[in-house]
This record gives sequence, C-alpha cells and structure tokens, in this order.
Amino acid sequence: SNCILIGAPVDSGKARRGCLMGSDALRVAGIEKSLSSLGHSVEDWGNLTPAPATAPASLPGHLVQPAETIGWTESIAASAEKAMQSGLPIFLGGDHALSLGSVIGVANHAARVERPQFVLWLDAHTDFHTPQSTESGNLHGTPLGYATGRDGFDGFPEVKNPVHYENICFLGLRSVDPDEREFLQSTPAHRHDMRSIDEQGIARPLAAFLDTVAAANGMLHVSFDVDFLDPGIAPAVGTTVPGGATIREAHLVMEMICDSGLMTSLDLVELNPFLDERGRTAQVMVELTASALGRRIFDRPTRAFA
Ligand code: ARG
Ligand code: MN
Ligand code: MN
Ligand code: MN
Repeated sequence: SNCILIGAPVDSGKARRGCLMGSDALRVAGIEKSLSSLGHSVEDWGNLTPAPATAPASLPGHLVQPAETIGWTESIAASAEKAMQSGLPIFLGGDHALSLGSVIGVANHAARVERPQFVLWLDAHTDFHTPQSTESGNLHGTPLGYATGRDGFDGFPEVKNPVHYENICFLGLRSVDPDEREFLQSTPAHRHDMRSIDEQGIARPLAAFLDTVAAANGMLHVSFDVDFLDPGIAPAVGTTVPGGATIREAHLVMEMICDSGLMTSLDLVELNPFLDERGRTAQVMVELTASALGRRIFDRPTRAFA
C-alpha cells in the first residue's frame, strides 16, 4: 500500500515535555526504509503545526495547554482526512492528544465512503476522559472521550462522526481511573485488561474483534501508545505502567493486524526520546510497525487464529 508518514509532534497533552522529538526519532530509527523494503511506497509529508486557536473560558481551569491541543486537533484532523484519500496514514507522534485529531479525521473519511469506523486502542490506559472528568488536566487522557462524542469539549472542532462504543477494542489495560472505569462499564466497548490477556492470551480477543471489523466491512484505525508495551522493553514513555505487553505479544498483535488486511490508519504515540536508552524504544516501535505492514519470519498460508 501507499504509506503516508505524517509527523505530529504534539507535546501539549501533558505537562512533561519530550514527545515533540518522537516524530523525528521514529524517522531516525528508519521507519521509511523499513516500510519501503517491504514493498510499500512511502511518502513523508513532514511535520504538521497546530492551527492558531484559543481556549474558551468555559473549559475547566486545570487543563494543561488546551489552546495548543485544540489547534493540533484541527490541523491533524484535516491532514488525516486528506491522507485517507490516497493511502494509509501513519501519524508519527507526539503524545496521545494527537489522536483527538487523527481519529475524528479518519472517521469523517469513513462516513464519506459509507463504511463504519473501528478503533483498536493498544494502551495501558483507556484515555476516555472529558475535560471535566480528568483529574490531571492532561488532554492525552481524553482522545476517545472526544472521538466518541462525549460532552464538554468546548472550543474543540465539532465531532461530526462519533465513533460507536461497540466499535472500540482496548487491549493492554492496566491503569484506568475511577470515572473512566464507571463510564466504560456502562458502554459496549470491548475491554481487555492484562488479566484477561494473561488468562486467554492476546490472540483470541484480537481475532474476535478483527472478525467483527471484517464482517462489517469496517475501516480500522490502530492507535499504538508506547505504554502498551512493558517498560522493560520500551522505557521511553512518561506514563510507564509495569506489567505491559511483551515483545512477543506485541509482534503477534501486529502480525495479526497485518494478516487481517483491515488496518486503514495508524498512530504511533507517546514516544519520549528524552527518556530513551540509545534509541531502543524508537527502534522497537519501528520494528513493530514493520510487523503490522508485512514483515514476516516465514510466510504463512492462513491466519494464526480464526
Ligand atoms: N488516566 C490518566 C490521566 O488522565 C493517565 C492518562 C495517560 N494517557 C496517555 N495517553 N498516556 O491523567
Ligand atoms: Mn497510555
Ligand atoms: Mn471483546
Ligand atoms: Mn494513551
């Protein structure tokens, strides 16, 4: 396919800085070459900048840099919609606040082509807050609250095509705030915490979700937060939570996504190169992206699980 690299050096989603260097770290780690060597054409659209924006006084006062995130949401959504017309956009983050823009942008495209939008959220966190429910004030904890059309995002671009709860699958959860937990338990979103992964493995719930997407002829946005991975293999993230996915589980997830042929867009987020060790987290993210786009040890005739 035609992979479109879109740098989104968003660093406004939390107080701790560094994710703005993530887009370039993924480039330095060789993302373009690793995808082109798999036979994909690769375009790099460079780095986006946030649209000029102001935050309305009606937003809660404890939010971290809301104007910047509003501006990013506008520019990233516009770029996502445009890229969806000619390829598979890969958003090089940037913190997870970039997904306010990427998810609504791809969902607008899906609505235009009359296909349902699905989202696979690979993350220790659910990121389902609203500006009112977040205690930290960090908007990287809100992208799915926003993209599903929850109230309270005054001043943000209108969510014209909210993602349906039942079209979301969370994998890797191990840090969910009480408000998020209570709200999510009232929705049909597919939630798989680390306990369920320990009990049933990671392939089974993922295969079930991919089957649902395929049956609905859906478009699949994959949002990959570095903290989905165990901090032992991916230290370069500000919100480490012990007990994350192993390198083997993560490669399996990526290979199954590839085999399904369903992925239509991808976020690589929360990489903070300031916290990395000789680039190894950036390298792991690039290798996992390669698995999602076709790198294989041996060819396989069929999917591993059906
Ligand atoms: N739930 C916490 C908060 O809202 C952590 C969110 C972490 N999100 C992330 N994208 N790393 O502050
Ligand atoms: Mn996270
Ligand atoms: Mn499920
Ligand atoms: Mn996240």
